[in-house]
Amino acid sequence: MNEIGKQIQATNHDGARPFNREEQERILRVNTCMSCHKYNADAEFWKKVTDVKGFVKNDKMHKEMIEKVFMECIK
Ligand code: HEC
Repeated sequence: MNEIGKQIQATNHDGARPFNREEQERILRVNTCMSCHKYNADAEFWKKVTDVKGFVKNDKMHKEMIEKVFMECIK
């Protein structure tokens, strides 16, 4: 389905079905996180990240962290 809910996927696998809208939104949200968090797997790299501001303990700190990174890249 696309954003307005029209089915645009099809499949031939037995028992398989296209993702419904709610599932697609969940997947998109996770992908947003993964643009940064796929690097968690690289411990050495992620240590550099956590060293910037210390380990983020809550959502507020997470927001501040993302904002800091964002502001750095448009400087
Ligand atoms: C723009 C990059 C970016 C995006 C997008 C992002 N994060 Fe993060 N996240 C970070 C950074 C940087 C840290 C800081 C690591 C630290 O210092 O603890 C962090 C830390 C965290 C932590 C604390 C534990 C840890 O691994 O360091 C959690 C939990 C987390 N993020 C969840 C999420 C979730 C869930 C989403 C999607 C809704 C998300 N993040 C999206 C960059 C991002």
